[in-house]
Amino acid sequence: MECSLIKPNIITRRRNSLSVNIFKASSSSSSSFNLKILSFFLFFFLIFINKLVSSSSSYSITGAEIEDIDVNTNSLFPQILKEEAVSRLTELGKVSDADHFLERTFLSPASGRARSVIRSWMEDAGLRTWVDQIGNVHGRVEGINATAKALIIGSHLDTVIDAGMFDGSLGIVCAVSALKVLKINGKLENVTRPIEVIAFSDEEGVRFQTAFLGSAALAGTLPASALQISDKSDVTVQDALKENSFEGTEESFLQLKYDQRSVWGYIEVHIEQGPVLESLGFPLGVVKGIAGQTRLKVTLSGAQGHAGTVPMAMRKDPMTAAAELILLLESFCKHPENFIFYDGQCKGFSVESLSQSLVCTVGEIYSWPGASNVIPGQVTFTIDIRAMDDMAREAIIFELSKQMYQACDRRSVSCVIERKHNAEAVMCDDELSSQLKSASYSAMMRMTGEIPDEVPVLMSGAGHDAMAMSHISKVGMLFVRCRGGISHSPEEHVSDDDVWAAGLAILSFLETNL
Ligand code: GLV
Ligand code: MN
Ligand code: MN
Repeated sequence: MECSLIKPNIITRRRNSLSVNIFKASSSSSSSFNLKILSFFLFFFLIFINKLVSSSSSYSITGAEIEDIDVNTNSLFPQILKEEAVSRLTELGKVSDADHFLERTFLSPASGRARSVIRSWMEDAGLRTWVDQIGNVHGRVEGINATAKALIIGSHLDTVIDAGMFDGSLGIVCAVSALKVLKINGKLENVTRPIEVIAFSDEEGVRFQTAFLGSAALAGTLPASALQISDKSDVTVQDALKENSFEGTEESFLQLKYDQRSVWGYIEVHIEQGPVLESLGFPLGVVKGIAGQTRLKVTLSGAQGHAGTVPMAMRKDPMTAAAELILLLESFCKHPENFIFYDGQCKGFSVESLSQSLVCTVGEIYSWPGASNVIPGQVTFTIDIRAMDDMAREAIIFELSKQMYQACDRRSVSCVIERKHNAEAVMCDDELSSQLKSASYSAMMRMTGEIPDEVPVLMSGAGHDAMAMSHISKVGMLFVRCRGGISHSPEEHVSDDDVWAAGLAILSFLETNL
């Protein structure tokens, strides 16, 4: 039977400028049928969890490959892959727009300084460098066949507000360090295809609420209309580009797109940002897929008034409405089974597997005018919603939007829901993943001198530039263990040895595959 989750339909709505395609709930599916197949889904769910926890995977390493691995401890390059890499991460972690915490959002003054520092490191690694018209920093070596399709290795140079120093920077620094080792060994000029490292200018989407501006521009998925998106201070992407001496024209923007025929593959090393590798006791893991994500902006408008004089029954308070909507969101994401159901073949997804990956967050909220003795006139908040199953994410957004409008109607508050960002879930390429797995295996063996257990395979709830690059290339990702699974926080930490393991894994990947 075809998967019927919730039937698609576009709805428009009075008092809102909802700009999204949302889905209409199906009344035809039967919940009793759902109950009958629950045990069937539960069976597959248990297999899925078992696979995750036991870290088994479909990417295998052969005995011959194990014998090929170089366990010579002289080939560990600790000065470059560990000491210098950690010192560069620390240096980049201080390049901030704020005095007391790390903040480096898209096209900020600190991001300009970060571009210069990263570019100098790329040059030190023997790469030809340039900064493109959206602020991505590139470093490239052509190797012996300049017309061959290139391997791109990337991550991002922007950060969230009050960030840790590894998110994004780790992938850039480890890639540059591995290439520096190839340069020192005299192997850089002999690579069999071009290698390009890219430090993308925006992955977090903090400033303009739409993520991957740097990588999506290269992938050609960002329309020129993105130049007109504004930040909170009404500065557009175009203004910000011009302020940073970029052209900021539609033409320059559209020229950023890479021809997919020139790209062989894209790989990215990234801090895991979750607790799985630490709990399994592994420094490195291979990413199987990345959850899809949507960002919404909800604007609630009511009647601004005096906190002391307007009786409770006569208020149109957008703040209390926001509180109700935020709790509604939480109940959707904690208990999706109460709101949607699966019927038929849904690509192996079920409401149980959805519960494992569905996460929803309200990370920003503002009220106007924002005073303790004023009933607000307007409250705006963001919603970030992610899941591996794109169809279920859309279904949740539909059903949630419908119930949010109903709650606002009951409270006589107007509600506008805008979709600011959308990215479909991405599955990593099997072959690249196998190669990254062998490289991780090799790195761990070179470091410990022992044959490690199977390298874990993980799903990513966090978004990555690999999602944008998947539109023009096969993609593969390596995750690096972090302390306590903490990220998007100054507490974020990767041990020096794990930075080293990550650099060594990229080096092994390059030595084996190029
Ligand atoms: C980036 O870190 C994201 O997943 O939002
Ligand atoms: Mn990141
Ligand atoms: Mn991040």
